[in-house]
Amino acid sequence: MKTLSTIQFRGRLLSIMERKHHWAWPYLTNGRLTREQLKIHFQQEYAVYVRDFPVFLARIHGQNPPAHARTLLARNIFEEDTGGLSFGRSHPDLFLTMMEGLGFKTDEFNRITLLRPSRMYRRWLDTATQKRGWLVGAAVMTVFVEGSVNDRDELLNPSGRKSRDEIDALVARHPLVRHYGVSPAHMDLTRAHHLVEAGHRHDAYDMVLGYAVRAVQQQAVLASLAKTFSLWSQYRDGVARACGLKKP
Ligand SMILES: [Fe+2]
Ligand SMILES: [Fe+2]
Repeated sequence: MKTLSTIQFRGRLLSIMERKHHWAWPYLTNGRLTREQLKIHFQQEYAVYVRDFPVFLARIHGQNPPAHARTLLARNIFEEDTGGLSFGRSHPDLFLTMMEGLGFKTDEFNRITLLRPSRMYRRWLDTATQKRGWLVGAAVMTVFVEGSVNDRDELLNPSGRKSRDEIDALVARHPLVRHYGVSPAHMDLTRAHHLVEAGHRHDAYDMVLGYAVRAVQQQAVLASLAKTFSLWSQYRDGVARACGLKKP
């Protein structure tokens, strides 16, 4: 493979992200899951990457990447693990508050048995953040895990800073509020994400596009994202299976 231009490389990253949609997703967003199914879904999410997300970032930071990447990672870790730029509470903690809004107690998230595909995905996230160099770690965590199917839109048509009212309107439309009776008071995680996440999307692509400049680096990033996508799909399939959902 020859070296891709920044635009070409970004296109390749975004085309992987465009596939980060799972067939079981509409069951959740259209309000068709039971409480038991919701619990399985959120427990697996929490134990696979939500609880330790700041630690994954810290491992990457700890590999001493170039100064600019260190700054972006440190800022992301500060918000994710303290809420210092938003509500003063870590995102894993805000996640548990959102779960309380669903009627799930924090101790139901203390000891979670991972499903087999969840364990495999988690194991890969551990490897990617510890053994594949900071650039692959950053691509896997900040581009793929933190990103979504909407990344192309977010990058190319940045939404800018949202007002309090706009954020509250988005919270009111959130599936957990609309379909599952969670009170907006429990939704600061979503508010925090609307406040800071657009910045995290831009930082993620700045880091990876800025430093994966040689063909071999670009190739390593693309291969690791393809692997992440595949293990993520199997993880999502496993959760859907445990919920008793069948692929339409
Ligand atoms: Fe977060
Ligand atoms: Fe984030």
